[in-house]
Amino acid sequence: MYRTKTCGELRLENLNQTVTLAGWVQKNRRMGGMTFVDLRDRYGITQLVFNQEINPELCEQANRLGREFVLQIKGTVSERSNKNKNIPTGDIEIIVSELKILNQSAVPPFTIEDETDGGDDIRMQYRYLDLRRTAVRANLELRHKMAFETRRYLDALGFLEVETPVLIKSTPEGARDFVVPSRMNQGQFYALPQSPQTFKQLLMVSGFDRYFQIVKCFRDEDLRADRQPEFTQIDCEMSFIEQEDILQTFEGLTKHLFKSIKNIDLQEFPRMTYADAMRFYGSDKPDIRFEMQFVELMDTLKGHGFSVFDEAEYIGGICAKGAAVYTRKQIDALTDFVKRPQIGAKGLVYARVEQDGSVKSSVDKFYSQEVLQKLKEKMRAQNGDLILIISGDNSHKAQKQLSELRLEMGNQLGLRDKNKFCCLWVVDFPLLEWDEETQRFYAMHHPFTSPKPEDIALLESNPGTVRANAYDMVINGVEVGGGSIRIHDSGLQKKMFEILGFTAEKAEYQFGFLMNAFKYGAPPHGGIAYGLDRLVSLFAGLDSIRDCIAFPKNNQGRDVMIDAPSLIDQEQLKELGLD
Ligand code: AMO
Repeated sequence: MYRTKTCGELRLENLNQTVTLAGWVQKNRRMGGMTFVDLRDRYGITQLVFNQEINPELCEQANRLGREFVLQIKGTVSERSNKNKNIPTGDIEIIVSELKILNQSAVPPFTIEDETDGGDDIRMQYRYLDLRRTAVRANLELRHKMAFETRRYLDALGFLEVETPVLIKSTPEGARDFVVPSRMNQGQFYALPQSPQTFKQLLMVSGFDRYFQIVKCFRDEDLRADRQPEFTQIDCEMSFIEQEDILQTFEGLTKHLFKSIKNIDLQEFPRMTYADAMRFYGSDKPDIRFEMQFVELMDTLKGHGFSVFDEAEYIGGICAKGAAVYTRKQIDALTDFVKRPQIGAKGLVYARVEQDGSVKSSVDKFYSQEVLQKLKEKMRAQNGDLILIISGDNSHKAQKQLSELRLEMGNQLGLRDKNKFCCLWVVDFPLLEWDEETQRFYAMHHPFTSPKPEDIALLESNPGTVRANAYDMVINGVEVGGGSIRIHDSGLQKKMFEILGFTAEKAEYQFGFLMNAFKYGAPPHGGIAYGLDRLVSLFAGLDSIRDCIAFPKNNQGRDVMIDAPSLIDQEQLKELGLD
């Protein structure tokens, strides 16, 4: 037996027991005639003690141990005189009687402790060492628990986990595909799934009724903190349901995860239409941990000779409670923030509500106190508040800019507490999205999403206004999941492809299999997929989903540890017909 106990489980009640432990040397230090070694494994850290007087030979051996050596020791559990309240094993230590070095270790490139001296790049290159650190490992333990609880919950509701293929034909989720050349069919390519969308719909045609899969998806898109080229979905589909059934079932899953993992009881999730989300927050994933809703100010501020506003297509403001104390310097910094190229606002107008109720603005020369008082009223601002206003000649862009400003103010005013969780369903997404560049409509969710029955008539006359039976799960401003009720009628599906600019041939080439399947009794169905990485990083309070993925890619899509992607042999290229 390599060990009788782990490094995390010994307590005072184990006093005087003889135990065998195995693990890694976290550090060793000499004090007087004693040598202390911290032995670490996945479960914790246990202090080992070697006494020069009692066993000089063993103590010498301990003194020579390097960081990350792998040991097996035998010894007796003893009470510490100097207890460490910070670790669960801090009341005890092991008086070592036997020491075996199972393996040596080169000096690690960074210290394997909670506060490490290693920068991001080096830790990614030696990710297997980074994963020895408690904080990183804890994220993966959490991920395991969440995946496990998801399976438990869905299994109890009769969902079947079915694996779908990874070498497939392209699925249209809006990103680029990763492709894999076929040796046996030269000149042809598989695509890696952006999601198992079409397969889960086929499983509904097959009568599986309730499907789920915790599944890798692949998207070749620009990377951000919440995006990886390969990521994991909790992917689900149900038959004979309506939107309400899906929302109930997955609200239930979300609540189950919060309860079982974090012991948090959540109230019923609020719902907001896409239109309201855009109007009040300028975002389809509003962070509703704090209010600071947009107020549209066209009527109040237009027509007073301030040309920026007079010419604007949109003027909107937010009211930052208590922020009238902001100094000129702080407001200048906010102005610089919204003017950054990533945000692109032309400027920022502010109005301070002073303690005496008067309003002082950066555009006082155009607005009388009377108008400014109207502004204050409209904004429902109180003494001591700061009103921030953005305008633009494109409503959508100006609202997005104001949304960034709102989030920044939320950060600055401490309103985005990572330990507070606000879940929200955003519903009634538009079915289609117009693209100026290509002058055509794209499916906002995907081409299989069903229009709302009451809006179907508009498909011909005004497609841009058709709403979909599509919904997103948003937590703290993060889009955690999205889904829709699907089209199950091959005629309507055909029509959708037409609107999306597919020729009959192209639709047949890409989706013939699905439309064909729909001829054989497709049940009404719909589903949703949660991004597991995003959900775990929210639960763990992480800023990037990278930290809850065992072996993530960097922002250039590289795995710097295995050095991928990489060139392949000429021989391999030849075999694939790619030379
Ligand atoms: P959607 O494209 O909205 O829907 O994806 C579902 C969820 O997957 C997560 N996600 C990502 N996570 C990390 N990195 C990425 N690159 C990434 N892209 C998406 C998000 C997102 O909400 N087939 C549909 C679902 C359906 O209709 O049932 C789909 O994939 O959390």
